Amino acid sequence: MVPMKAAILYNSLTGNTRKAGELIAANLQQEGWGITGVSAVRKPEMASLQEADMVIVGTWVHGLFVVGQMPFGVGGIEHLPALRGKLSASYCTFALNPGKSLDRLETSLKLLGTEVIGGLALHRSKLPQHAEEFAARLVANVPVLR
Ligand SMILES: Cc1cc2nc3c(=O)[nH]c(=O)nc-3n(C[C@H](O)[C@H](O)[C@H](O)COP(=O)(O)O)c2cc1C
Repeated sequence: MVPMKAAILYNSLTGNTRKAGELIAANLQQEGWGITGVSAVRKPEMASLQEADMVIVGTWVHGLFVVGQMPFGVGGIEHLPALRGKLSASYCTFALNPGKSLDRLETSLKLLGTEVIGGLALHRSKLPQHAEEFAARLVANVPVLR
């Protein structure tokens, strides 16, 4: 069996979403997945995207905390090249309420031509637990090794 290979991309202002990406990578590696790279959306490691079967994209929630929440930087995400035909998943980190940020991220990932597996909102004060949960759900939902 060939293990799944995932690339992780993040937008991060104060570091939570980057840290979440690193935690997700570590958890997936423990489950036997390969990680081709963890890089910023604005400076993606192109080789890591090309090599990956799945691209995991994370960003942070911005808005007025209870209204107007949006995932930060969807424009940059929608301009990522070379993802067509790959699997994808999204995550966002938030402080109070993510609103419909995950739905919005899913739309972006579909626009890029990827097959979206799912997404999870990670509370910024519970990154280790929520990253573990996210990785476990991904592994449970993508058992097929090609
Ligand atoms: C300008 C600004 C607006 C924010 N708006 C929201 C919001 O509407 N809802 C929410 O739950 N968190 C909001 N947050 C909190 C961030 O989403 C949260 O701290 C996140 O983990 C930051 O990720 P980062 O450290 O990767 O930048 C906001 C943060 C900033 C700086």
